[in-house]
Amino acid sequence: MKFFIDTANLKEINEAKLLGILDGVTTNPSLISKESFSSKKEIENHYISICNILQNKENVSAEIISTNYEEMIKEGEKLSLLHPRIVVKVPMTCDGIKAIKYFSYKKIKTNCTLIFSSSQALFAAKVGANYVSPFIGRIDDISYDGLNLIKEIKKIYDNYNFKTKILAASIRHPLHIIECSKIGIYAITSPIKVIYSLLNHPLTNIGLEKFLIDYKNKIN
Ligand code: E4P
Repeated sequence: MKFFIDTANLKEINEAKLLGILDGVTTNPSLISKESFSSKKEIENHYISICNILQNKENVSAEIISTNYEEMIKEGEKLSLLHPRIVVKVPMTCDGIKAIKYFSYKKIKTNCTLIFSSSQALFAAKVGANYVSPFIGRIDDISYDGLNLIKEIKKIYDNYNFKTKILAASIRHPLHIIECSKIGIYAITSPIKVIYSLLNHPLTNIGLEKFLIDYKNKIN
């Protein structure tokens, strides 16, 4: 399973690379707003810096902020020219769907974001999105089952052999990642802190402490 990091923070992206688990990066306008940029140009350069960290790995999702078709096309084309590893992230709206169709025709890669239902995921695949981002955590937040949506989308895509890849987003805890791996989707995108929590087990800490105490008690 591919691990994408859901952040625009270069320190976190480098950390994930050092951990050896960095396959790609996803950003969104809220994540971009957490970094300090004073112009669009700076944001564009930032996307290029992220692509350069990735080297020969997967890609970086850069989200468009336009909401009407013509503007979306203009913005997405500009983003796609920044670096070959840029994937244009497009919101699941009617104009967004038309834009994805256009980008697919132009061979510009897309990630259809803000997916909250199987019908939206089916639509995105039908028009040629390369990735869909279903938001597991935000569905759980309103008392529905985010992982069930992942299962449904996987089944639908398998039934018709859609090439669209499922990139599970809005990951809140390690079980989200484990369950996604059991379902067998292509990738997750997660905050770095959840990635670290995959490593943790109290018995590992207790076990290591005991090994070291036993060793030090006998051997000086
Ligand atoms: C998806 O690509 C989004 O960037 C992200 O996963 C949203 O996560 P959140 O619900 O934690 O904001």
